[in-house]
This record gives sequence, C-alpha cells and structure tokens, in this order.
Amino acid sequence: MERYVIQGGIALNGNLDVQGAKNSALPIMAACLLGNGASILDNVPALSDVAVMAQIMETIGAKVAWTGENQLRVDCTQLDNWAIPDYLMRRMRSSFIVVGPLLGRLGRVRVTYPGGCAIGTRAIDLHLQGLKKLGAKITTGPSGQIEFRASQLRGTFVDLDIPSVGATENILMAAVLAQGTTVINNPAREPEIVDLQSFLNKMGARVEGAGGDQIIIQGVDKLEPACHEIIPDRIVAGTLLVAAAVTGGRVTLHKVVPAHMSVVVAKLAEMGATIDVGKDYITLYAPEQLKSVEKIITAPYPGFPTDMQPQFMAALASAQGVGILTEKIFDGRFKHIDELRRMGANISVDGRTAIIRGVEKLRGASVEATDLRAGAALAIAALSAEGVTTLSGVQHIDRGYVNLEGQLAALGAKIYREREA
Ligand code: UD1
Repeated sequence: MERYVIQGGIALNGNLDVQGAKNSALPIMAACLLGNGASILDNVPALSDVAVMAQIMETIGAKVAWTGENQLRVDCTQLDNWAIPDYLMRRMRSSFIVVGPLLGRLGRVRVTYPGGCAIGTRAIDLHLQGLKKLGAKITTGPSGQIEFRASQLRGTFVDLDIPSVGATENILMAAVLAQGTTVINNPAREPEIVDLQSFLNKMGARVEGAGGDQIIIQGVDKLEPACHEIIPDRIVAGTLLVAAAVTGGRVTLHKVVPAHMSVVVAKLAEMGATIDVGKDYITLYAPEQLKSVEKIITAPYPGFPTDMQPQFMAALASAQGVGILTEKIFDGRFKHIDELRRMGANISVDGRTAIIRGVEKLRGASVEATDLRAGAALAIAALSAEGVTTLSGVQHIDRGYVNLEGQLAALGAKIYREREA
C-alpha cells in the first residue's frame, strides 16, 4: 500500500495538459468488442481501471496492448469465451458495461454483480430492465452469476426512470446490433455518452440523439473496428482547478473542452476565482480567499457532477462563510467528511445535505482516501492546509488520476508517494 505525503500552503502555478477521460475510455474499450478486428484508441489514460478493463477483455479473447503514448490497440478479432470471473467483476463498477456489447456480438455472456467505489447503493435494475426489453433472457446462478442470452436482440422503446450513465451505455451498445429501431428515452446526457455514440458511428452503427432527451438507434448487421481519440477528462480538469483555487494559485489547463465544465467553472467563479476560458484551455486565477456558496446540488449532466462534490467540499472547508452542499445522486457519498474533520473542518450533516462552516485554515493530519473522488478531495484539502498531511489509500486515486502527484508537482506542489510502513 502507498500513501502521499503533502506539504500544504504552496500556491499552484503553471500549465498542464489534461488526461483523457476514464469514463469515456472504459465504455469505448468495451464497445471495441462489437467489431471484428483491431480498433485504435488515442488519449487513453494509463489508469488501473483501464488495466482492469483490458484484463476483462483479455479473458474473453481480446488482445489489448499499448502501442504508443496513450494509444491502445484493442483487437477483438477472436472472442472465445463468454464468462467473466467474479474477481474481475468486483474490481470496478464499469466491468458491467461489457454485457451489452457481448450480448450483441456473441448472444451470450455470464458475469457477477459489479464492484466499484463504496459511495452508496449502486443498483443494476435499469441495465437489466433495458436488456430484457431488447430480448435478453436473464437467469441468475447460485453464486451470484447473472447470465444473459439472446439469439437475436430486437429494437424496442426503453424509458429510463433515472438517466443512469452505465445503463444508457449498456443498452446503447446492445441495441446497435439489434434488429430494428431502439429508442432510449431519458438517457444520460453526459459528454461521455456523446463520445461513445461518436465511436459507435465510426464503427458503422447508426445512432443519433446522444446528449439530448432521446437516443435513437437503427440496428445494423455488423460493426467494423475504428480509430478514435478519447475526450478530455472533465473531472480531472475540475479537480486541478479546485486545487489551484484553494492554494491561491494561477493555473492554465490545456486540452480541455470548456463546454463540458460550465457548471464547475461557474461555481468556482461564484467562489471568487477569475476564470479565462478559451477554445481548448481554461485559466484560473485564485482570489486571496475563496467565498462559500450556499447552493451546490449534484444532478445528472448538465447539472453539478457528483464526481466533483467531495473536491468542492474540501474547498468549502476553508472558504469564507457557510457552504451548503446536497448530494442527490449517491446515498453514501459523504465518507470524506470524517477525514476532512481530522484536518479541522467544521461540517455537519443533515440527511443528504452537508453544511460546511469555513475555517481559517485546515491543518495537516493523517487521513485516508475511502474512494476515488474522496481521495482527490483529501489531496486538495492537504494542499490548502497548514503543515504536512499523509494521505493513505492512494490506490483509489490511481483508479482515476494518472500520476496525480506528478501533475501536482509540475504545478509546484510539494508531494511525494511512499510505501506505507
Ligand atoms: C457513472 C460514472 C461515475 C459517476 C456516475 C454519476 C462511469 C464509469 N462512472 O457511474 O463516475 O459518479 O456515473 O454521474 O462512467 N441507478 C439505479 N439503477 C441502475 C443504475 C443506476 O438505481 O440500474 C442509480 C444509481 O444507484 C445512482 C444513479 O442511478 O443513484 C446514477 O448512477 P449511474 O448514472 O448509473 O452511475 P454509473 O454509471 O455507475
């Protein structure tokens, strides 16, 4: 196990290119399973979750290899297995999104319940309902196996109660090879869904509407491999902007899509940061001290992202005034609060709402990342704090940030990684 040692109180300054989006790379890797041949993906972040997805795909017969900096070759010419072992399914939530493409390509797949960050209930009912409507027969085994079979999926109308990202992706990837037209009503509208649509269409699929209220898929007989560049990671970019904001720094992020980040940028501006937005860059000039905001409520895109909630809580912890933050997406995503309290934060919780009374300065402490974004939040808190913080559980951060310590150090932070005793 490894931990970060972070010396707080140093302003971040400089320029940085933002990595490719994990939440786009994972479903697009899974989509490669639909094409008979080798797809080439660029701007893929070298993360542990990407390695797990590669392992999952390799157990099915795919060949996945790095062929350049951030370039992945995913060869799905020969798929010779349809069962994914439980230990891989448990490694992350996204393991489940191979179900849709494998059902389309092989007509059969066996998985178990997926794992992932411990941030509350993470049901799969919408995935199952949608795939069932497309004609999949679903059976469950004695040790938690879920088996899907369909000799031919058929286009249908799927109405999602909640615009679930994963369910939208799974249903979309199953529907591209179904017979006839599928409509997904109330789909997730995240930029990563638009990226997936664009990749699938390069493979020969006929999908339209991603990013809007309905996705319409005309099924085709077969798909070809394709080349694609993954979009920038808006959550990593947001995390770096918050880190610059809490340290009183000035940072320019390149290779971003500012339109994907408008809510986050607006909140940082409301907190007193000056922000200059260009076509593919964002510069943040931090104020002397951030001001609290009283209304951050997480919501599906284009609302405030739940994946930025912990990082903003860390920023509010030492902002001037009282901040109010409500988590509407996940019911257990407040685990970072106890850790922030160890650093001197004054936070009370009422149901899904946290009330954060800004303190003058957080202080360095020994804290633990309980999940990916909680880890990012604690790194931000540590950068703003007086003194030294040791942050354990770095393996969670490695799931979503490529060499976070290197990125922060490039901006002047004093941070290093060490083995835990
Ligand atoms: C994706 C993102 C994750 C982000 C989340 C919400 C990836 C790899 N992960 O996760 O980083 O935090 O979107 O923006 O893209 N739900 C159900 N039934 C289902 C599916 C979901 O009730 O069948 C509920 C969940 O419990 C949750 C909400 O819907 O409360 C949103 O979940 P969902 O959008 O599916 O998140 P993920 O796809 O798991």
